[in-house]
Amino acid sequence: MSSLSENLSTLKGQIEDGLKNLQSSKELYDFKNLFIEGKKSKISELMSGMKSLAPEERAGFGKSVNELKVWAQEQFTNMEAEMKKRELMARYEREKIDLTIPAAPQPIGNLHPDTLVKNQLIDIFAGMGFEIYEGAEIENDYYNFTALNTPKDHPARDMQDTFYLSPEFLLRTQTSAGQIHVMESQKPPIKILSPGKVFRSDDDATHSPMFSQMEGLVVDENITLSDLKGMLDMFVQKIFGKETKTRLRPSYFPFTEPSVEVDVSCFECGGKGCSLCKHTGWIEILGAGVVNKKVLENCGIDSEKYSGFAFGMGVERIAMLKYGINNIKALFGSDMRVLKQINEK
Ligand code: DAH
Repeated sequence: MSSLSENLSTLKGQIEDGLKNLQSSKELYDFKNLFIEGKKSKISELMSGMKSLAPEERAGFGKSVNELKVWAQEQFTNMEAEMKKRELMARYEREKIDLTIPAAPQPIGNLHPDTLVKNQLIDIFAGMGFEIYEGAEIENDYYNFTALNTPKDHPARDMQDTFYLSPEFLLRTQTSAGQIHVMESQKPPIKILSPGKVFRSDDDATHSPMFSQMEGLVVDENITLSDLKGMLDMFVQKIFGKETKTRLRPSYFPFTEPSVEVDVSCFECGGKGCSLCKHTGWIEILGAGVVNKKVLENCGIDSEKYSGFAFGMGVERIAMLKYGINNIKALFGSDMRVLKQINEK
């Protein structure tokens, strides 16, 4: 009996000291299995030792072991709460966030100069009441040429080197094709702007096989070349600055009669002459004219009652002029060093 009682008080001491020295929940639960609750725990072992006692001693000893177990469980529960608290504090410490540290700068992207200019042009024309019409990039010969008064064998076809997909279908060479679609499906008054990609077999510093154009078309009663001139004056002042003037030069396009080439006074030197305007004071920006009567008639519009003007411009050309880019490839090359420099809203 006396040795078992000794064991009991030794075990109590071991549990008391042991619990104090534990460092983690894992150690705590291992300790519990080893000493308090597991089938092979020290307390269970002590309990089995009871068999060796005289029957009259067993009840008293059993009670003592049970008391030890209740006490040990209580110690364990207290320690468990304490351990959770400690571990939570340690986690708080580990995951502490310093809210005063400045955030790492996030690089902000910017619009491609082509998109920038396209958006500006659309904004300006939408502000003047133009509706947007986006045609298809694959056209047939009729819409791209014939209906625009450029039948087969017409010398003006040589002005545009065309990518043919078949004898009938082609990649549109000009957004002018959209004029025909619009006039076939709408009756005057018509006021549309048609932006889109066009394709030509052409490749040098100022030409790319794929580029973007904007086409404008206005058809109503009594539309004349002076309406075109008035609209262009407003347009160029918005895009190139208030001082900018326009000049019309005679030209030729099959779908307009008369046809003009439109120049703006050089916005770089104000007209005095510089490298941008090649010392002429003027820069060509677009082609335009009064819609050829034949084109109106091809679309079933009465050319005695209605007249119109049309214009077409290259978006990359405007972007290059505006941002001083001298090779169109810089716009298609995706070189961030170039594209990042052009960063206006
Ligand atoms: N389509 C012509 C081109 O690609 C540009 C053009 C000139 C469009 C005169 C027009 C216009 O609408 O009237 O070169």
